[in-house]
Amino acid sequence: MHKTGTAWWQHGIVYQIYPRSFQDSDGDGIGDLPGIMGRLDHLVELGVDAVWLSPIFPSPMADFGYDVADFTGVDPIFGTQEQFDALVTEVHRRGLRLILDFVPNHTSDRHPWFEEARRSRDSAKRDWYIWRDPAPDGGPPNNWLSNFGGSAWEYDAATGQYYYHAFLKEQPDLNWRNPAVRAAMFDALRSWMARGVDGFRVDVIWHLIKDDQFRDNPVSPDWKPGMDPFHQLVPLYTADRPEVLDLVREMRAVIDEYDDRVLIGEIYLPLERLMAYYGADLTGAHMPFNFQLIDAPWHARTLEGLINEYEGGLPPGGWPNWVLGNHDKPRIASRVGPAQARVAVMLLLTLRGTPTFYYGDELGMENGLIRPDQVRDPFEKNVPGRGLGRDPQRTPMQWSAAPNAGFTTGQPWLPVSDSFSEVNVEAQSGDRRSMLSLCRALIALRRGEPALAAGAFEPVSAEGDLLVYQRIWGTDRFAVALNLGSTAARIALPERFADGRIHLSTHLDRSDALVGATVELRADEGVIIAPAKSAQVKP
Ligand code: NOJ
Ligand code: MG
Repeated sequence: MHKTGTAWWQHGIVYQIYPRSFQDSDGDGIGDLPGIMGRLDHLVELGVDAVWLSPIFPSPMADFGYDVADFTGVDPIFGTQEQFDALVTEVHRRGLRLILDFVPNHTSDRHPWFEEARRSRDSAKRDWYIWRDPAPDGGPPNNWLSNFGGSAWEYDAATGQYYYHAFLKEQPDLNWRNPAVRAAMFDALRSWMARGVDGFRVDVIWHLIKDDQFRDNPVSPDWKPGMDPFHQLVPLYTADRPEVLDLVREMRAVIDEYDDRVLIGEIYLPLERLMAYYGADLTGAHMPFNFQLIDAPWHARTLEGLINEYEGGLPPGGWPNWVLGNHDKPRIASRVGPAQARVAVMLLLTLRGTPTFYYGDELGMENGLIRPDQVRDPFEKNVPGRGLGRDPQRTPMQWSAAPNAGFTTGQPWLPVSDSFSEVNVEAQSGDRRSMLSLCRALIALRRGEPALAAGAFEPVSAEGDLLVYQRIWGTDRFAVALNLGSTAARIALPERFADGRIHLSTHLDRSDALVGATVELRADEGVIIAPAKSAQVKP
């Protein structure tokens, strides 16, 4: 049992690996499982607790693995079943956990289930997917849109019906109202847990059930030309349907058949709807992913508001979590700039709740530049030129100044960012002031201090560009003060921190410096402050 009495997924830190881009071992330019195996030292040195792998299952790769053709296998591009089992063993041997990406909303159109379903209207698997007759004019059955552009309905000439796909037409949606689909998919979860997998991040979990009356989605009043065309409609009837919460509860029950596993849900919804996914009496997802930091404008008052709303909106006992980046969103260092990226990781690692790191963010990797002929993301290909493409945040991990940043000896599937000669693990390991050194120091501190790993959160009022809060565990306390602005600013500290000392600065240059009743923060500086020893013993 951890000293805070919390589960591994509560006090731990999750690290997301996009397997295609982490480390290639066989020179095909695509990252793989043996590559990951050879880089576990990096994760241990960084100090994270759990690795989440984006999909590694057999796939035609229309959406780079989010189009699954076999829910219990491993794609040969990534390795073999044996290599997967060896990875699980090695990850556990190092005291880490392994989380897989479960993609239940859809399959590949090459999944044997779909191939069988499309064979005829009488196929035994027909109802495993969502089929509808054409509208009277022969067009799609309703106005539902695909997240990746155009109608969500694809006509199947052989059987004269349309099938629904919330994403690519190569990703037909499963019909989760069918009990046979539930049973088959739950068995897939069990098979991975039996092999030692510690939990799942569930892809678009809020999408699983669609309206059974197939009503048209309403037109959005907020959409303007040039915006993502998907947002022309409010997805009222295609996502976050009331019945989905029962399904999440069923999925959680399957997870609970095994000890100590975690269910994380990918959910982009407004706060009060997000909270519903914890389920009544916490019988839903352990952690509905909290993406507020990923999308929020980077202003102290905005962040303060959303942090307080999130803390205040959690159901009793619901465990918080925070995410700064993932394979679908622009890199944090590009969004807020390299100097603020350091403040951002201090925020991520000092808020209350499980932090999720996206690979490369520990180096401050920025979005890669992708020339038009290098575009691989189907989203960018379908809806070009609007900055929606996800290739920039998927460029290869930068290990060293060696060719291709040490990622591959072959031709990388996406270009290695030009920044790699300076921004890489080897160079930053040797630099006491680097982003990597900061992340290691923050993580080490968080691991060692119950107040930071699991303590209570208390906001401290502040103005302008300053964001200030305390973390509290028994008599232990830390104050965190972040300057989100580019000019120096002075803050008055809560009384008990007067004459305390700076534990850690984002600039990594004034640890142990004493503070008075106020402290001066430089531009883009964050500090973690411990009270004076005498103040600390007073409850
Ligand atoms: C969400 C995933 O994160 C994204 O990468 C994927 O394209 C869609 N779901 C469809 O599976
Ligand atoms: Mg490879």
